[in-house]
Amino acid sequence: MTPERSAVVEMSGITIQFPGVKALDDVDFTLRAGEVHSLMGENGAGKSTLIKALTGVYGIDAGSIRVAGEERQFRTTADAQAAGVATVYQEVNLCQNLTVGENVMLGAEIRRAGMVDWKATHAAAATYLAELGVHIDTRSILASHSIAVQQLVAITRAMVVDTKVLVLDEPTSSLDRGEVEQLFSVIRDLRDRGVAILFVSHFLDQIYEISDRLTVLRNGTLVGEYAITELGREQLVAKMIGRELGELESLSASAERPIDRTGTPVLRASGLGRKNALEPVDLEVFGGEIVGLAGLLGSGRTELARLLAGADRPDQGSVDVGGTASRTGSPRHALDRGIAFSSEDRRAEGIVGDLTVAENIVLGIQARRGAMRRISAAEKQAVVDEYITALGVRPADPNALIRNLSGGNQQKVLLARWLATAPELLILDEPTRGIDVGAKADIQRKVAELAEKGLSVVFISSELEEVLRIAQRVAVLRDRRKIGELATRDVDLDALVTYIAEGQSQQAAPTVPETVSSDREKIA
Ligand SMILES: Nc1ncnc2c1ncn2[C@@H]1O[C@H](COP(=O)(O)OP(=O)(O)OP(=O)(O)O)[C@@H](O)[C@H]1O
Ligand SMILES: [Mg+2]
Repeated sequence: MTPERSAVVEMSGITIQFPGVKALDDVDFTLRAGEVHSLMGENGAGKSTLIKALTGVYGIDAGSIRVAGEERQFRTTADAQAAGVATVYQEVNLCQNLTVGENVMLGAEIRRAGMVDWKATHAAAATYLAELGVHIDTRSILASHSIAVQQLVAITRAMVVDTKVLVLDEPTSSLDRGEVEQLFSVIRDLRDRGVAILFVSHFLDQIYEISDRLTVLRNGTLVGEYAITELGREQLVAKMIGRELGELESLSASAERPIDRTGTPVLRASGLGRKNALEPVDLEVFGGEIVGLAGLLGSGRTELARLLAGADRPDQGSVDVGGTASRTGSPRHALDRGIAFSSEDRRAEGIVGDLTVAENIVLGIQARRGAMRRISAAEKQAVVDEYITALGVRPADPNALIRNLSGGNQQKVLLARWLATAPELLILDEPTRGIDVGAKADIQRKVAELAEKGLSVVFISSELEEVLRIAQRVAVLRDRRKIGELATRDVDLDALVTYIAEGQSQQAAPTVPETVSSDREKIA
């Protein structure tokens, strides 16, 4: 370890009180030049709040903040930015309809005789982008690029305005492996140039790959600051959740549970496809079965989920539910037939910020029953209480406005909404994204428990460990095609990764059920 570098940000005794919740209580935090410092903690621990205190989104009730040795309390994020503190959120906050170059240079356009010299401005943008290894047309519209590229553009923009501190709050949760690598190489490069980087992620692998130092928060209080080398994974998790995470093992039983595949499947998709989105796919899901969908981002996982759920209209193929044909392309009809769908896009399709936790949960039941059949207050309360407890929603207050919950807790409420509809088949697209390790285990356990009682599940996750732990079978997609199926008890992580990458697993010749080998041939 290099000797102590100079502190760029020194926060001490930070306290922030929201009505009914002390989000931060006397927290100290120091960020040094040239380090990647990860802020760790469970959902609701106070990570985003601490960041917002630094960047001027929230005022503090007590404590002090020094940036580059000077006492500062920014009033707005623009103030913070002007002082060299830039933030890149998970949801990119740039102008979607402007070009890449305009976004990078916004407010710093190159002028000649008072007029913007666009040629020079785009050239400068291209130079900044190239410095971070991003080679794209600066005259292309931002919205035409992937989230990953947009994030890199946001970071480049931060570099134009001489940034000393770069804050990244869960920037990787919707990136694939390759994109994370690209982002990390940019982060390392900036760190080596002396930028102080504050990073938040719930992916422990990423934390150990990129961090120099960690600060752990629990329940709004400081647990401690550690060099990454002094804290092993299990110790870190124990510090975050305040107990050992031992119970995870019991879940492996879920993958081992035998499934009766002789009768009529709960869901059968035959030749289901959509032009430019998904080649025709066959898929069967039986009663009580959890089928994982694995593949890289863009492999067609989400497309398949959306076709199954009626969210998109297929242009070929059919879906049978319980042995009878189901209308495709209608989410309403799918829900009537007992198919619930929890989308990966919680902001666009998920939570309703101005409603309470309870209201957000019962929305799904209401949709399933139709507007005519009211749900009794007692029934509502029972369902709401059950899921707040089962998924560990915090604060455990049914009347809290959902927009005031932390990101991970909003995700739990969304999941509760669809579990509460008591569907026959539940399609979960990235249900544990942004969820902390402890809560992830709670969610996996709840899903496994419901499946044991007969619920069928289609489970999408970028975290393959999770798929292998919970699902009995995995359908693997690549380049918008299903390339095969594996029984999870026959494969380990390496074999699955190899299969996804190369379409074959050496370790385990896929022992697929008969129904599956036939559709493998059809596709091949
Ligand atoms: N505007 C607000 N009004 C009321 N309570 C809030 C507000 N913002 C945050 N909170 C509460 O403060 C606490 C800390 O939330 P914060 O968003 O900082 O958590 P986090 O550590 O970022 O969690 P996650 O990993 O889920 O993103 C939570 O209990 C949250 O409900
Ligand atoms: Mg957060």
